[in-house]
Amino acid sequence: MYMSTDEVRQAFLSFFESKGHQIVDSSSLVPVNDPTLLFTNAGMNQFKDYFLGLEKRDYSRAVTAQRCVRAGGKHNDLENVGFTARHHTFFEMLGNFSFGDYFKKDAIQYAWDFLTQVLQLPKERLLVTVYQTDDEAFDIWNKQIGVSEERIIRIGDKKGGKPYESDNFWQMGDTGPCGPCSEIFYDHGDHIWGGPPGSPEEDGDRFIEIWNIVFMQFNRQADGSMNPLPKPSVDTGMGIERISAIMQNVHSNYEIDVFQRLIKETADVIGFEDLSNQSLRVVADHIRSCAFLIVDGVIPSNEGRGYVLRRIIRRAVRHGNKLGATDSFFHKLVAPLIEVMGSAGGELKKQQAIVEKVLRAEEENFGRTLERGMTILDEALKNLDGKVLDGETVFKLYDTYGFPADLTNDVAREHGLSIDEAGFEQAMEAQRQRARESGHFGTDYNSAIKVDSSTAFCGYTDVEKNAQIISVYVDGQAVDSLREGDSAILVLDETPFYAESGGQCGDSGVIRSASGNFIVNDTQKSGDAILHYGVLTSGHLTAETDVEAVVDAGRRKAISLNHSATHLLHAALRQVLGSHVAQKGSLVKAENLRFDFSHLEAVTPEELKKVERLVNQEIRKNHIIETQLMDLEAAKAKGAMALFGEKYDSQVRVLSMGDFSTELCGGIHASHTGDIGLFRITSESGIAAGIRRIEAVTGEAALDSLEEQKDSYETKLSDISAKNKLLEKEIQQLKDKLASQAGANLTQQVKEISGVKVLVAQLNGADNKALRGMVDELKNQLGSGVIMLGNVSGDKVGLIAGVTKDLISRVKAGDLVNMVAQQVGGKGGGRPDMAQAGGSDVQALPQALSSVDEWLESRL
Ligand code: SER
Repeated sequence: MYMSTDEVRQAFLSFFESKGHQIVDSSSLVPVNDPTLLFTNAGMNQFKDYFLGLEKRDYSRAVTAQRCVRAGGKHNDLENVGFTARHHTFFEMLGNFSFGDYFKKDAIQYAWDFLTQVLQLPKERLLVTVYQTDDEAFDIWNKQIGVSEERIIRIGDKKGGKPYESDNFWQMGDTGPCGPCSEIFYDHGDHIWGGPPGSPEEDGDRFIEIWNIVFMQFNRQADGSMNPLPKPSVDTGMGIERISAIMQNVHSNYEIDVFQRLIKETADVIGFEDLSNQSLRVVADHIRSCAFLIVDGVIPSNEGRGYVLRRIIRRAVRHGNKLGATDSFFHKLVAPLIEVMGSAGGELKKQQAIVEKVLRAEEENFGRTLERGMTILDEALKNLDGKVLDGETVFKLYDTYGFPADLTNDVAREHGLSIDEAGFEQAMEAQRQRARESGHFGTDYNSAIKVDSSTAFCGYTDVEKNAQIISVYVDGQAVDSLREGDSAILVLDETPFYAESGGQCGDSGVIRSASGNFIVNDTQKSGDAILHYGVLTSGHLTAETDVEAVVDAGRRKAISLNHSATHLLHAALRQVLGSHVAQKGSLVKAENLRFDFSHLEAVTPEELKKVERLVNQEIRKNHIIETQLMDLEAAKAKGAMALFGEKYDSQVRVLSMGDFSTELCGGIHASHTGDIGLFRITSESGIAAGIRRIEAVTGEAALDSLEEQKDSYETKLSDISAKNKLLEKEIQQLKDKLASQAGANLTQQVKEISGVKVLVAQLNGADNKALRGMVDELKNQLGSGVIMLGNVSGDKVGLIAGVTKDLISRVKAGDLVNMVAQQVGGKGGGRPDMAQAGGSDVQALPQALSSVDEWLESRL
């Protein structure tokens, strides 16, 4: 029977649903509240606290198709991808879970029924393993299912290993839920080399493990001891790619429908023909992890998860380049990926444009240095003396050309060489040291201490509370008492102080007793405890003292207004820009708020105006801000915005503001939207490809910002007008200068009439004042003469006549100007030596000026 990967997924979910299991969505690849894990790497991750009895849910059986990434961190398969048949950075794990419900008997029966009845695998192809001492599982396989004894293999602890270090004892990590397991293997046939599990040839490819059924029974402690779980449970995991390979009658995972399509698309996009090339597999694998990591909010960066993503993208780009890709190609695989993921591709489809943009930006960014780096690397490998590339060169490639060390290692490996990882680390450390010395470092509060106790939180209703100190820490160590001046952390039995979470910053205030005053600067969480960070400013304090915990209410109020405004902003952005807008981060402080969200382009000034108006409109509607506790499902049905991939309890706090905004939120808010008063956006910027950031202020701060803006505009205005005056003055001086230069040029047009020097000329755009200056200047230059200038300025004519003193008995400037003025629709007169007039007939001026010669001839 043939089944597509999508059909296998559906069949699995439906089968277990029919056995009373709740279908639960895959959780995010970024584990929530689990600092021990880089990426989700197994189906059980999202249920860890449920197994441990720390969390309640309203089902005791669940089934999932969980997306997983094994790259970077403890489970790192990155470097093997492309070179083996079954390593992936991204895969999907099908799993059924029992939380204190059924145990070994049903778990084994369900697995057997699914494989042999639903998928109709031949029983003789299957064999199983159990943990060495697990007689119970052995008997169930043998007696209940009917698997013959020789097909049930007992596997013990590894030779020379620690107790329970075994392929048949599954542990999530060094601590946490664990238990013996039973694995089901499929025999791909004797044409492939390999032996059954436990045999010397077990590493061959003939017998492939397809399903792991873990009987969760213990919680492993850091010291290695095993505490029983509250109830025996079940966690199973079956890689969908492996089981699909069987259902599609192929041996390598890369031959299943999903990969064949991606390999073909990659080859087409790049223009490469040989579909068996390993680099095609690398690219087809990597597009899956990269696209889904971005869907789950990871953005390429130089640290943590973002750096793992960057490494995978760059590795894919390098392999594409090897195949001859000259242009960006990687992002073009997102569309086919959505298709092949079928029912698991929904969220990717929604975020397609963003994912493509992020990939493309990273690809182009790296593409710029890839070729130069490769030239340098090839050169270094060619001239290599020995087999190991030195750490300094690896570092230089990293630092200057953006080559992650594992990419350099990849290339070295292709030449049968390796890199000096320790040397690279040393060079990296030296750089970190330089950065530290230049002052780039911060305090990581959370890593400071781990506290087991728990604090009741009463801050939703109170800002003051009488409480008791339950522990005191100085420099990460528990102490009994504090002296004046000590910086410390206080943990109380109950507190109104809100600990930083969900983007809302921690409260500040004071914790005081009859004996001392402790100023709280910040509040953080550690497990269920709330930590008050601060300084004892007077007196002394000891553990178990009764205290009064008082939050700085003014600051708290400002924070709560900003938090409520953040919800309005989120809803408004979705209305104005579209429902693709998803929250990528937020920071709510007393001074302002910051909201990061997915959107491809810069938000235009018009859009920002709309968003700001909309938020202010909703503020004026003065909605009551309501909180309600309800089931997660009911909240989703109500349309509450939840962060995609965020882990929520089955009971959630839903915050609504009229019908404008409904979000899941544990933060502290105003009581009515009207309390916010005023909302103003102060900036909009891009922080990564496809991620925008808006900063805004509310209440008093919004008014302050308005006033500041007004003041700054006024200052700017007066600066501008002062500068303007200065400029006007300069222009005038320049005009005068120009006019006098023009005057100098005019002297070339001087002619003589009856032995008298005469200058008649037309100017354009000169200033009247400048004209007078010009005539004076011309008189000086001529010594003796008659001057008549006409000037056109816009639709007006200006006229000026000048006669040197020695000639005024023969010609009067006033007469002359008047004669001309009459011809241009004006009238004028003045002193005999200098007279001015105006006119309106611009067209008539040339003719009027040309009549001057004749007029003068009759008088001189
Ligand atoms: N947790 C087990 C595994 O990852 C079974 O799901 O193999």
